[in-house]
Amino acid sequence: MTEELVKAVPNLKVSEDPDNGAMNVDAPEDANDVVNPWTVQTTNDKGIDYDKLIEKFGSQKIDPALLERMEKLTGVPVHHLLRRGVFFSHRDMGVILNQVEKGKPFYLYTGRGPSNTLHIGHLIPFMFTKWLQDTFDVPLVIQLTDDEKFLWKDLKKDDAKRLAFENARDIIAMGFDVNKTFIFSDFQHIGGAFYENMVTVMKHVTFNQVKGIFGFNDSSNIGKIMFPAVQATPAFSSSFPSIFGGKKDVPCLIPCAIDQDPYFRMTRDVAPTLKFRKPALLHSTFIPALQGAQTKMSASDENTSIYVSDTPKQIKNKINKYAYSGGGDTIEEHRANGGNCDVDISYQYLTFFLEDDARLEQIRQDYSSGKLLTGELKQILVETVTPLVMAIQEKRKTITDDMVKEFMRPRPMTTKNFTTPT
Ligand code: TYM
Ligand code: TRP
Repeated sequence: MTEELVKAVPNLKVSEDPDNGAMNVDAPEDANDVVNPWTVQTTNDKGIDYDKLIEKFGSQKIDPALLERMEKLTGVPVHHLLRRGVFFSHRDMGVILNQVEKGKPFYLYTGRGPSNTLHIGHLIPFMFTKWLQDTFDVPLVIQLTDDEKFLWKDLKKDDAKRLAFENARDIIAMGFDVNKTFIFSDFQHIGGAFYENMVTVMKHVTFNQVKGIFGFNDSSNIGKIMFPAVQATPAFSSSFPSIFGGKKDVPCLIPCAIDQDPYFRMTRDVAPTLKFRKPALLHSTFIPALQGAQTKMSASDENTSIYVSDTPKQIKNKINKYAYSGGGDTIEEHRANGGNCDVDISYQYLTFFLEDDARLEQIRQDYSSGKLLTGELKQILVETVTPLVMAIQEKRKTITDDMVKEFMRPRPMTTKNFTTPT
């Protein structure tokens, strides 16, 4: 096994929930930070140590030189999520930029494990993916892993499929272009060339390897054991003959939060054996839970999350009631000592959603000095997040079932930089 994979073994304690077969992954006693597809947790109230994570996972830090190169190539300023280090880590982004430099195409791949509704944390990879799609003008595939949710959760197949369809509607409401975007449900789509690649991946990954990467054990159901092959397969262009006409060598770029990286370490590890190209990655940090930076916002915990289906009143109430404050206990104390932006959740959320750099910096200074009160900061967050969520809800209402079905239909694609070969 290569270095990448060896580094990946996170020494987890894994057990299955006897009620629903969900996987519980506990932190080993000596670890402060746990980051994997099922758990994101730290004992530090400032959140995960992302620099350490880069070292542990063996990825590369996104540095100013890389951002400069992106700006030069695209002629536009980089997205605020790149500028602010929310997307902080990458694998082989240089390879993708080399490709762009030569005027050759690549494609984007991201995904979603369907659940009731998206929370605002899920908006991060999708908002950013949309920007990449607009900026580079390339095809995008979005995998909806309804099979994953069936295997891990206490969820009926029909419900998983319905949630995939409804989540597709949420994602479309973020503004993706139907001419460049293919959204697929695993239950619906897997077969043909996709399945052939998937089985080839399965043939070249052993139980020992996935045990090491994901912490599976002898009592994990075998669906879970093979699932990493399902998530790996969209990273290979020949899995989508309708888009890539069987071409094996169109490079893939995957934007996601860093919890998904284990899947793609496995993918990158197996790719050369199959004579496929390794996918490149852009990793983001997590939007923390409302209660504080020790855990990520999680769809299954209602009080930690702001959902894209929440009403303005719910958004306001949740922020006022739950958003952990780094401010002083009393107004006098706050005015005297100021607030701590490093732990303040409202401030943290603004770094994700408030695009105006100058205004964000002013808020940081005013809150740190005590000039701006916690209530006022929360109000700014409410005013920033509510219109974003309302815009998605309004757009969502206009997206008919037929429109969703069109996004989910395998078809050729033409963009400025790419045309399906015939
Ligand atoms: P899922 O549905 O758990 O998450 C979807 C995407 O959202 C990211 N994410 C977050 N980002 C910021 N802050 C948060 N609090 C937060 N919570 C989740 C995830 O990293 C992910 O990018 N198995 C996957 C589905 C999948 C996928 C992929 C994801 C299939 N293929 C390729 C990314 C790329 C899943 O259940 O994601
Ligand atoms: N959660 C809603 C339901 O289960 C449907 C839904 C999903 C929704 N995403 C949304 C509604 C976004 C409004 C906005 O019925």
